[in-house]
Amino acid sequence: MTAAPGPEWAPFPTAERATRTAVVTGASSGIGLAIADDLVGAGWHVLGLCRSRGALPDAATWVPCDLADLISADEAVRVVRRAAAGGVDAIVHAAGLQYSAGVGELRPERGERMWAVHVRGAELVVGGLVGVLVDGGRVVLVGSRTMTGVPGKSQYSATKAALAAMARAWASELAPRRVTVNVVAPGPTRTAMLEDPKRASVPPVVPPLGRLVEPSEVAALTRFLLERTGAMVTGQTILMCGGASLP
Ligand SMILES: NC(=O)c1ccc[n+]([C@@H]2O[C@H](COP(=O)([O-])OP(=O)(O)OC[C@H]3O[C@@H](n4cnc5c(N)ncnc54)[C@H](OP(=O)(O)O)[C@@H]3O)[C@@H](O)[C@H]2O)c1
Repeated sequence: MTAAPGPEWAPFPTAERATRTAVVTGASSGIGLAIADDLVGAGWHVLGLCRSRGALPDAATWVPCDLADLISADEAVRVVRRAAAGGVDAIVHAAGLQYSAGVGELRPERGERMWAVHVRGAELVVGGLVGVLVDGGRVVLVGSRTMTGVPGKSQYSATKAALAAMARAWASELAPRRVTVNVVAPGPTRTAMLEDPKRASVPPVVPPLGRLVEPSEVAALTRFLLERTGAMVTGQTILMCGGASLP
C-alpha cells in the first residue's frame, strides 16, 4: 500500500507560479550562460548578474554587476529585489575565474580576487536575496572538482572548498523553509576559462571518459536540482567530472 503524502510533503510551490525567476551570476559566458539558456528555454525568467551582457539571451535580463566590488554587488542585489517583486525561485552562483600557480609563486591579490568573486560573491548574492527567496526555493553554487586540492591550483581549490562548507551550513539553516542548497562541481568543462592565460601554467587534462564536460551537461544537472526533481537533495556537492576525480 502506498502511504498518502503527509503534511511534511509539499510540492515545490513555485512549480505553480506562472513564471519562475532565477538569478544566475556569471550568466554572460560558459557554464552560467548555458544555465541561463537552459532555464530560459524551460520558461524561467533569468536575471543575469555579470560585468558584461555577453551572449545572455534577449529574453533574460542583464543586471550589471562586478562581484569583486562591494558597491556594485550591493547595487545589483537592490536591482534584483526591485525587479523580482513576486520573489526569487532560484539562485545560481556560477561567476568565477581561475589563477593557477605553485606554492612558491602564489600572489595574495589573486587569491583575494578569487575569494571575493567565488565566496564573498556567494555571501553577498545569496545573503542579500535570501529574504526574497520563496519557501521551497533553490540555491546552487558552482564549485569545482579541484576542491579537494590539485597541484598548481591551491588558491582556486580553497575557494571552491569553502563553497561546499558554506552550502552545508546554509542548507541546514534554510531546511525549515524547504530551501535546498547544493554545490555542482564540474571537472574540465569546454568554456573560455580553459583558454584563459591566467591558468596557463596548469593546462586542462582530458578526463578518463575521453572528453571535456559540456556546459549544457552542467546546466542539465543544475536544472535537475532547481526543478521538483531536486526537492529532497540538499547540502550536497555533486561532481560532474568525467572521471577526473577518480584515483
Ligand atoms: N570551465 C571549467 O573547466 C570549470 C570547471 C569547474 C568549475 N568551473 C567554474 O564554473 C564557473 C563558470 O566558469 P566558466 O568555465 O563558465 O568560465 P567563463 O566562461 O570564463 O565564465 C565566467 C563567468 O564569470 C563571470 N565573472 C567573472 N568575474 C566576475 C566578476 N568580477 N563579477 C561578476 N561576474 C564575473 C563572467 O562574466 P563577466 O566577464 O561578464 O563579468 C562570466 O560570465 C566558475 O565558477 C568556475 O570556477 C569551471
